[in-house]
Amino acid sequence: MSLLGGKKILLGISGGIAAYKTPLLVRALVQLGAEVKVVMTPSSKDFVTPLTLSTLSKNAVLSTFIAEDQDNPSWNDHVALGAWADVFLIAPATSNTLSAMAQGRCNNLLLAVYLSAKCPVFIAPAMDLDMYAHPSNQKNMKTLEGYGNHVLPVGDGFLASGLEGKGRMLEPNQIVSNLVSFFNPKLPLQGKKILITAGPTHEAIDPVRYVGNHSSGKMGFALAEVALEMGAEVILISGPSAEKLNHPSLKLIKIVSAEEMLHQVKKYYDDVDIAIAAAAVADFKPRHTASEKLKKQEGIEAILLTPTEDVLAFMGHTKKNQVLIGFALETENELENAKAKLSKKNLNGIVLNSLRDKEAGFSVKTNKITFIHADQRIENFPLQSKLECAYRIFEQILSL
Ligand code: CTP
Repeated sequence: MSLLGGKKILLGISGGIAAYKTPLLVRALVQLGAEVKVVMTPSSKDFVTPLTLSTLSKNAVLSTFIAEDQDNPSWNDHVALGAWADVFLIAPATSNTLSAMAQGRCNNLLLAVYLSAKCPVFIAPAMDLDMYAHPSNQKNMKTLEGYGNHVLPVGDGFLASGLEGKGRMLEPNQIVSNLVSFFNPKLPLQGKKILITAGPTHEAIDPVRYVGNHSSGKMGFALAEVALEMGAEVILISGPSAEKLNHPSLKLIKIVSAEEMLHQVKKYYDDVDIAIAAAAVADFKPRHTASEKLKKQEGIEAILLTPTEDVLAFMGHTKKNQVLIGFALETENELENAKAKLSKKNLNGIVLNSLRDKEAGFSVKTNKITFIHADQRIENFPLQSKLECAYRIFEQILSL
């Protein structure tokens, strides 16, 4: 999908360490079909080179009022640049640039373009946590919002100073998603809230050992990624998984056990439009969890197990208007078993995957799915990546 096809995006880069991520930002925008031009403040050239940016954007990069050609000096027309753009994105926006913008100062080309541009302006702040939290910076951002600019949130995490907290520039893909939503307000899942369970659960035997399964979380994370791309707000409740996902519309909740997953589901389920249970929840947990590590010399003959609560069944039995989708992982009598789960757990649809299919199931990047609707309609799909499977699943949900 060319989500930014034909859109003209002017990227303004100011001088902060996060500028090193702007080549990825330019590439992501170009990949989605946008035409990109870049203006830089002089100090941003210490962090990223104009050559890299002009190569990726396929356009000249400007940073001065006068073109740097001594034989043929000419004016870099800031008014024309602003008029060209459908959106002016300033990323990273340092505290200095934010303050200059709020005050209407005009001592570099980026600021001159900002003051003359009539297009929507998106601002991705980036600075150290204390600078970000400083009242003067907060006030500048409020002022800029008051002028109608879109001030994006910042990320929370490691900062160049070695400190940890709020102030990181949003990741390039998150900035891109904001622009995609801006240009595509009618995305198929815009305005929908989706709850997805993912990954395995680990049921503790003692503080170091657990009962679990081989689930990697890949299918659940792929569903979340596609839902976000289609404009949804996603609550992803995941057991231990190495998968990563970052997005302004994503709430990622990490849990360990089935009980914790159920607890989180109960918090959010009432308020969602769609819920998809892709987690491989452990069906059994140790009847007792030892508080200290079990010692080898003492030996152990058996671990007594007791069933966990079925998270999906809980959602089925307390369903109001939600569309509820489950998964069935089977090794025999696949269709029959999946249909039985569909009706027993009161679902609108169930995604069947068989461990008998090569390249499908746990850990691998591909899957082969069959979607069974509550009205017994059945759609079979060939082997494809889990991301493509996620698209097929949402197409089925949207057909409901
Ligand atoms: N599920 C759940 N909570 C559990 C067990 C399963 O939410 N305690 C959900 C899974 O996320 C999946 C569906 O139920 O969407 C079916 O899971 P599956 O393991 O295929 O089947 P089970 O219901 O556990 O039955 P069985 O193990 O007997 O096949």
